[in-house]
Amino acid sequence: MKITRQEYARRRKALMELMEPDSIAIVASAPERLRSRDTDYPYRQDSDLHYLSGFDEPSAVLVLIPGREHGEYVVFCRERDAEREIWDGHRAGPEGACRDYGADDAFPIDDIDDILPGLIEGRERVYYAMGKDRDFDVQVMGWINAIRAKVRSGAHPPGEFLDLSHFLHDMRLFKSAAEQRIMREAGAISARAHCRAMRFCEPGVMEYQLEAEILHEFAMAGARHPAYNTIVGGGKNGCILHYIDNKDALRNGDLVLIDAGCELEYYAADITRTFPVNGRFTPEQRSLYELVLSAQQAAIDVIKPGSHWNLPHEMSVEVLTRGLVDLGLLSGSVEELIETGAYRTFYMHRVGHWLGLDVHDVGDYKIDGQWRALEPGMVMTVEPGLYIAPDNEQVAKKWRGIGIRIEDNVLVTKDGCEVLTTGVPKHPDDIEALMNS
Ligand code: GLY
Ligand code: MN
Ligand code: MN
Repeated sequence: MKITRQEYARRRKALMELMEPDSIAIVASAPERLRSRDTDYPYRQDSDLHYLSGFDEPSAVLVLIPGREHGEYVVFCRERDAEREIWDGHRAGPEGACRDYGADDAFPIDDIDDILPGLIEGRERVYYAMGKDRDFDVQVMGWINAIRAKVRSGAHPPGEFLDLSHFLHDMRLFKSAAEQRIMREAGAISARAHCRAMRFCEPGVMEYQLEAEILHEFAMAGARHPAYNTIVGGGKNGCILHYIDNKDALRNGDLVLIDAGCELEYYAADITRTFPVNGRFTPEQRSLYELVLSAQQAAIDVIKPGSHWNLPHEMSVEVLTRGLVDLGLLSGSVEELIETGAYRTFYMHRVGHWLGLDVHDVGDYKIDGQWRALEPGMVMTVEPGLYIAPDNEQVAKKWRGIGIRIEDNVLVTKDGCEVLTTGVPKHPDDIEALMNS
C-alpha cells in the first residue's frame, strides 16, 4: 500500500504545469532535531518533499526545472559513505536518487552551493517555501547572491520569488485514489487501537498505559509512529485540549478522552473517543455525550460537494448551543448565545481541519475571502466537543470536570461523504457493549 513511482512523477508533472514559464522550484528536506545529547528525535521527512518524491532521507534538496533540456527533476542528497552507513544505515546516494526515485540528474548535497546557482541562473522566477525555515531562507538568498555577484560577467539573477505552497498545497488537498486507500487503512488501524484501549480500560489503569495499548496496536499493524502526540485525559484532564502528560491514574466514575491516530505511509488518521473508565456512563455523562454525538452527526450530514467549509461548524454550534440551553448549562435565546459567542465557554475550538500528510493538513479554507466549497477528494475531521471546566461555578456541580470530544475522519465523495473511521463505536450503548463484552 505505497504511493507508486508513477504517482510521484504525476505529481511533479502536475506542479510543473502550474508553474509560471521560466521558473524553478526548490524544496528542502526537514532538518534533523536533537532530543538530548547525541540522541535525535525520530526523523520524519518534510511533507512537501515527500509528496513530490517519496524520498525519506535528511540533507536533501529537490529541484524542479520545467523545460530543462538535461532533465527537469534534480535531486541533491548525501553521498554513499561506507563508514557512515555502518553507523546510520543505507543512503541512496545520487545514483540511487536517479535509479530508485526517478531523478533525471542528482548531485552530492555538499556540492549544492557550486551547482544550484548555475541551475537558477537565467530563470526569471524562483518558487520555494518562503519563511518556513530561517536557515533555508538564508541559503536560498546565498545562491541568489552568488548569481548577483556575477552580473558584470553577464549572469542573469531571477527577479521574482513566489511561494511554492500556493500550488503545492492545493494539490495536496485533493486526495487521489491511492491516497484515499492509505487513509482508509490508517483510519481502520486507528479505530482498532481505540477499541483495544476501550477493552483494556478499568479503574486504576494509568493514562500512559492506555497510550501504550494504542501505540502497540499501531505498530503491530505496520504504522510505527502516531501522527501526533497521543492525548489520554481521564476526568478533568479531558478538559485540557492538548493534554499529553498522560500521567494520572484513571478513576472509577470518570470519563476518559483519547485523541489518537496513526501515521501510515506518511498519512495521518485523527480519532477521538470519550468513554467511561468503568464501562458505564452516568446519566450526566450520557446526556452531554449524546449532545456531542448529535452535533457531530449534524455536522457530518451536511458534508457533500457544494457545502461550504464552515457549514459543518455552524451546524455543530447550533446543536450544541440548543442542547446546552435544554440541559440548563446556558440560559437565554439560542440565536443570541450564538451571536455573542457565549457557547465558547464550553466549545472553544472549531469543528475540524483538513487531514492528510499532516494532521492539520495544508490547503486554504477560504478563497477570495469566502469559505471554500467542499469538493470530492478532500478529507477533513469532524470533532465537536464540550468541556465543562472543573472550576466553573456558573453550572451545577454535577457537570463540572466533564470533557467530551468525538472525532472522525471524513472523505468528501461525488455525492456526499464517507466516514473513514467507523471501525470504533461511538454510540454510548455500543461503547458500553464493547467495554463489557
Ligand atoms: N489531534 C489534533 C486534533 O484533533 O486536531
Ligand atoms: Mn484529534
Ligand atoms: Mn483533529
